[in-house]
Amino acid sequence: MNEGNPPSRYTLVAIVLHWALAAGIVALIVMGMAMTKLDLPILFKFKVYQLHKSIGITVLLLAVLRLGWRIWHPAPALPATMSRNERLLAHAGHWVLYLLQFAVPLLGWAVVSAAVLNIPTLLYGVVPWPHLPLLSTIANRAQVEPALATTHALMAYGLVLIVVGHVAAALRHHLVLKDDVLARMIPGLRQRPGKDEPAASG
Ligand code: HEM
Repeated sequence: MNEGNPPSRYTLVAIVLHWALAAGIVALIVMGMAMTKLDLPILFKFKVYQLHKSIGITVLLLAVLRLGWRIWHPAPALPATMSRNERLLAHAGHWVLYLLQFAVPLLGWAVVSAAVLNIPTLLYGVVPWPHLPLLSTIANRAQVEPALATTHALMAYGLVLIVVGHVAAALRHHLVLKDDVLARMIPGLRQRPGKDEPAASG
C-alpha cells in the first residue's frame, strides 16, 4: 500500500475504471428499465437481457479491479475548504457507491442463477458464464426468483439515487465551489491552483 501523502490527481487507471464503470452503470439502468417495462419484440428483448447480463458481469469484474486499485492507490485529498460534515458525507457516499457496485450485479447474477427459466449466460454471445453454485440447485425457484429480482431492482434504483447525488456534488465542486474535485477525474481539464490541501485522503 502507498504510505506517503495522497497524490494531487487520480491515476490514469483509476480514471479509466471510474468512467468505464459510470458508462456501464448508466447503460445497465437504461437497459434494465427498457427490458422490464417496455413491450419489446420477444427476440429483441432476449438480446437486451443477454447484453444486460454481459455488461453487468463486466461491471462486477471492473468493480473488483477498481477496489483492488483503490486499496493500493489512495485517492487525492479532499479540498481543505470542506467542512467535517461535508467530508463525512463525501466518504459515506463513496463507500455506499462501492458497496452497490458489488451488491447490484451480484444480485443480478443471483436472479439469473435462480431463474425458473434457467437460461444459460453467454457473455457477449461468446464466453460461457456459470450460475452461482448455491442458487443453481435450489428447488423453490418460483418464490426465490421474484424476491431476488425485486431486491436487484430496489438496489439498482438506490444506486441511481446515489449516482445522481454524486454527479450533483461533483458539479457543485466545479461550478459553485470552483475547486479541483471534478478536474482531477477528467484528463485534460485544468486543475485550479490553491484550493486543495494534500493532507487527508478522500
Ligand atoms: C451495476 C450493475 C447492474 C445494474 C445497475 C442493473 C440494473 C437493472 C435494472 C434497473 C433493472 C430493472 C429493474 C426493474 O425495474 O424491474 C434490472 C433488471 C434485471 N437485471 Fe440488472 N443490473 C445490473 C447487473 C446485472 C447483472 C450482472 C445481471 C445478471 C448477470 C443482471 C440481470 C438482470 C435481470 C435478469 C433483470 C430482470 C429482473 C426481472 O425479471 O425483473 N443485472 N437490472
